[in-house]
Amino acid sequence: MLPMAEHQTTHAAQEDARNEDILIWVNGQLLPKSEAMVSVYDSGFMLGDGVWEGMRLYDGVWAFIDEHLDRLFEAAKAIDLAIGMDRAAVRQAVLDTQAANGMTSDAHARLMVTRGVKVRPFQHPSLSRSGPTVVIIMEHSKPAIARPIRLATVPHQRGLPMTQDPKLNSHSKLNCILACIAAEKAGADEALMLDVHGFVNTTNACNFFIVRKGEVWTSTGDYCMNGITRQKVIDLCREDEIPVFERNYSLVDAYSADEAFLTGTFGAQTPVSEIDGRMIGSGELGPMTARLQGLYKALIRRETA
Ligand SMILES: Cc1ncc(COP(=O)(O)O)c(C=O)c1O
Repeated sequence: MLPMAEHQTTHAAQEDARNEDILIWVNGQLLPKSEAMVSVYDSGFMLGDGVWEGMRLYDGVWAFIDEHLDRLFEAAKAIDLAIGMDRAAVRQAVLDTQAANGMTSDAHARLMVTRGVKVRPFQHPSLSRSGPTVVIIMEHSKPAIARPIRLATVPHQRGLPMTQDPKLNSHSKLNCILACIAAEKAGADEALMLDVHGFVNTTNACNFFIVRKGEVWTSTGDYCMNGITRQKVIDLCREDEIPVFERNYSLVDAYSADEAFLTGTFGAQTPVSEIDGRMIGSGELGPMTARLQGLYKALIRRETA
């Protein structure tokens, strides 16, 4: 196993002392970080019963906020959770939190909704009676990875939709967390997870792409989070006439790829250097990944113009 100092997370960010003094939105109140609490009876704490979104602020604009709100409301409906606020109110809560924290750019928001406080410490959702718990944690945040990401495949699978649909951004991330722990114990930074048929699917916290002979490949989209950044990369490829395929492929294809990269709201496109000890391409940021990073930055500039 590599020494701990060699590890890094895909969500590594620059230290920012201002984050000690942020205000956190808790059920309509803006509270200092040290006072922002939820009950030990909260359904999210007790059972992972909730859904969430991660969003980024670039130059005064929350990127793709409509898509994020769509996904949040779809997930809440799927788990039969009434958010207790309409889209306009959720959007306003994000803007109020931003204003209260004086944030103009390079901020990250984690918007969480749980089934709320339970009357007794048991699973049945009818025990959550006092309405949802809604929290927005907004931090000053600039991604800062020291080097490309190392991946390791793990025994934990992306499951079928009838167990816990991997498309749900649920509070319970235990399957992904166990995958990440297994990858760390194998000396990597993050887990590359396969689907139930053994095809390469996604990582424990991001979507995954490979580049082969000028083509960009990602999984079919089954068994993984319907990542907003994933879709933007696919759309950008199509606009820029880069061949892009949502298809099944195996580790044989991934190990011999020219490049590999992760996508997610936090890190945008993050290069991968290694999968299971096999160096991918040069082990550095490759030309296609760099091109897509540029196209994505231009897209964000258009969004914020
Ligand atoms: C498991 C998983 N995959 C992928 C993503 C990336 O999705 P997005 O691009 O919408 O941030 C996330 C982020 O929430 C995630 O939790």
